[in-house]
Amino acid sequence: MSRKILVTSALPYANGAIHLGHLVEYIQTDIWVRFQKMRGHECWYVCADDTHGTPIMLRAEAEGITPEALIDRMYAEHLRDFSGFCIDFDNYYSTHSPETKAFAEQIYERLLAAGLIEKRAIEQFFDPARAMFLPDRFIKGECPKCGAKDQYGDNCEACGAAYAPTELKNPYSAVSGVKPELRQSEHYFFKLSDPRCESFLRRYTAPENGVLQSEAANKMREWLGQEGEHLLSDWDISRDAPYFGFEIPNAPGKFFYVWLDAPIGYMGSFKNLCERVGLDFDEYFKPDSSAELYHFIGKDILYFHALFWPAELAHANFRTPDKICAHGFLTVDGAKMSKSRGTFITAASYLAQGLNPEWLRYYFAGKLSSSLEDIDLNLEDFIARVNSDLIGKYINIASRAAGFIVKRFDGKLAAADASLPAFNAIQEAAPRIAELFENREFSRAMREIMALSDIANQYVDSVKPWELAKQTGAEVLLHQSCSHALNLFRLLTILLKPVLPALSEQVESFLKIDPLLWRDVDSLLPVGHTIAPYQHLMTRIDPKQIAALIEANRDSAPAAQPAPQAVPLPVEKSETIGIEDFMKVDLRIARIVEAGPVEGADKLVRLVLDIGEEKPRQVFAGIKSAYDPALLADRLTVMVANLAPRKMKFGVSEGMVLAASDQSGNESGIYLLAPDSGARPGMRVQ
Ligand code: MSP
Ligand code: ZN
Repeated sequence: MSRKILVTSALPYANGAIHLGHLVEYIQTDIWVRFQKMRGHECWYVCADDTHGTPIMLRAEAEGITPEALIDRMYAEHLRDFSGFCIDFDNYYSTHSPETKAFAEQIYERLLAAGLIEKRAIEQFFDPARAMFLPDRFIKGECPKCGAKDQYGDNCEACGAAYAPTELKNPYSAVSGVKPELRQSEHYFFKLSDPRCESFLRRYTAPENGVLQSEAANKMREWLGQEGEHLLSDWDISRDAPYFGFEIPNAPGKFFYVWLDAPIGYMGSFKNLCERVGLDFDEYFKPDSSAELYHFIGKDILYFHALFWPAELAHANFRTPDKICAHGFLTVDGAKMSKSRGTFITAASYLAQGLNPEWLRYYFAGKLSSSLEDIDLNLEDFIARVNSDLIGKYINIASRAAGFIVKRFDGKLAAADASLPAFNAIQEAAPRIAELFENREFSRAMREIMALSDIANQYVDSVKPWELAKQTGAEVLLHQSCSHALNLFRLLTILLKPVLPALSEQVESFLKIDPLLWRDVDSLLPVGHTIAPYQHLMTRIDPKQIAALIEANRDSAPAAQPAPQAVPLPVEKSETIGIEDFMKVDLRIARIVEAGPVEGADKLVRLVLDIGEEKPRQVFAGIKSAYDPALLADRLTVMVANLAPRKMKFGVSEGMVLAASDQSGNESGIYLLAPDSGARPGMRVQ
C-alpha cells in the first residue's frame, strides 16, 4: 500500500555556514526520503532556513546590510551546499515567508482562544547604549562560581557552571560593551504547564505511542516527572523590538520568539510546495490525517520537538508528528569539531577541495543508526572504508567485467542464469535491507550490502574473466560470467541508491537502464541488453586530499575567548576613566622564562614569567592558536601584575599578559605586546 509521508529536517540557522555536523542530519534524512521514493511511496521532503532572531539582526547591522539581504545570501549558500551533497529537498524555503507568518498568527490566535497564552512581566538585561534587551548569549561577565572573566550569560567555559545571566559578576553587553541594566518588560508565554498540555504530552510521549526512540522517551519521563509533579514550565514566546521576526498580532513591539516561529516554518515550506505542485495541505495537516509526518532532528532540540511543538499543534487543531527521529552529534577523530584543529569542516570547503560528496554520504550511512549516540568521523577510517568498501568491493565488480562486454561482445549481455546463488543471496536479503532502511538502521544495511558485495566478488574471482579472456573457446563462459557480474553490480546499485544517488545515475546511464526502483531487485537484465562503454565511476580517496581539507579549515588565529558568534560586532567607544583608575593597574615588563601547552585546554599556553620578583609567576594565556609555545621562551611582553590570582582547572593563574585582537577576536588574530629593546623584566609600564 502506498503511503503519504511528509518529512522534514531541522531548519538550519541562517547566521552560519553548513558544516559536516549539519550534514549528518540532512544526509540521514535524504537517504530515508530517497528510499521511500524508490519504494513507490508519495514522500515529500521540505526544509527552510531559520531566519529570525537577534543574532541575524546584529550581524546584518555589522555588515551594513538589511537582515533580508543577509538571509538571501545565506539562503543561496545553504542551498548550494545542500545540492553539492545531493540533498534533494522537494522544497527549500525560508521562515521569513508569508506562509509561515500566516500559520504563526493562526496558531497563536488558536492558542490564545484556548486560554493557553499568558502575559507576564519579566526582568531582563537591557543594553542602554543600544536600547535593546539582550539575549543570554550577548551578556558576558565573570563566572559567579569560579570568577573566570568574559563568560557567557548562561554558562561558564572555564568551570562548566550553569547560571542565569543575572548571576554574572560585573556583567557587560557583548554588543556594546556597556553595563546592562535590569528592566521589566511584558512577555507572552505559552502555558505548557497547563494540565491540558501536560496530560496530552504524557499520552503523546508514552513509549507505546511510538513517536520517540526509547532513549528519547526515557528523557521525556525525566522531563515530565511523575503525575502531579508539574515539572513543565511555561515557554516565553515573545521578544521585544528591535527584533528581526514577525510581530505578534495586536501586540505592537512584541515579536514571536523562535519556537513559535521556526517549526512553523515546516508548515510554511510545505504550504508553499502544495501551492506549487497542487497538493492538498489540509490532507497532511488536519487532526485526523492519515498522511505521516516525520521530523528528523539533532538531539539538542529534542525538548522543543517532543514537548513544545506537538503541544502547540495539538491545541491549535492541527495533527501532531508521527515520529521524531533524533540523531547524535558529529565528532571528528573522537573530539568536538574544532576550528584550531581544522576539524570544523564546512560543507563548502569539502566540495571546494574536490572531495566526492558521496564518500561522506557512504561513510555517514555506515555510522548512522536509529539511536541518539554521537557519530564519529575518524579521518583515517574514512579513507580506509571508502577505498576498501566502495572502490575495492562495489565498483570493482563493474570495472572487472564491463570492458570485456564492450570490447568482445559489442556491449551486448548474455542470458543470465537466474538461479545463480549470488543473485539469490541479494534478492533474499533485499527485504531485510529495506526494513533496515525503514528503521533508520543504515549502518547495519551498509554492512549487509558489503557482505553481499563480497559474495559477488567471490563469484567473479571464481570464474576469473581475465583468464577466460586469454583462453580460446571460452567465449561463451566469458560472456556469461561478465554478464552475471554486471547483473550483480546492478542489484547492488539498487540497494545503495538511496545513499549514492549521483553514482547510481551514472550507473544507470552506463547500463542504459531506467531509473532504478526498489522492486527492480527482483528482475535481471534481459539477454541482448546493450550497455555503454564503461567509464570510471569513482576514484579512491588520496590521504593528501584529507590533509589539505584539514589545512583549509584550520583557523590560523581563532579567538582566545570566542565572541558570542563568529560575527564582527559593532565596536562602541568605552566610557572614559580618570588617570587614578588607570594607575590602579600594575603593568610590568615580563620575560617569558618558560612556555608550554596545557593538557586538556587546546587554547591555552602556560607561561612562567619573570617580573623581577623572587619567584616567577605562572599565567595561563589564551594564545595557543596564534603562538607556538616552543617559540615564546625568552621573549619580553607586558603583564598585569596586580590581578587577583585565579584558580583554574590546571592551576592558579597569577596575572595576565597583554595581547591585541579585534573586537570579535576572531578574524584577524592575536598579537602579544612587546616592549622596545632595552626594557628589563619588572619595569613598570605607565
Ligand atoms: N534553527 C534550529 C532548528 C529549528 S527547527 C524548527 C537549529 N539550527 S542549527 O543550524 O543549529 O542546527 C540544525 C540541525 O543540525 C539541528 O538538528 C542540529 O541538531 C543539527 N546539528 C548542528 N550541529 C551538529 C553536529 N555537530 N552534529 C550533528 N548534528 C548537528 O538548531
Ligand atoms: Zn566558572
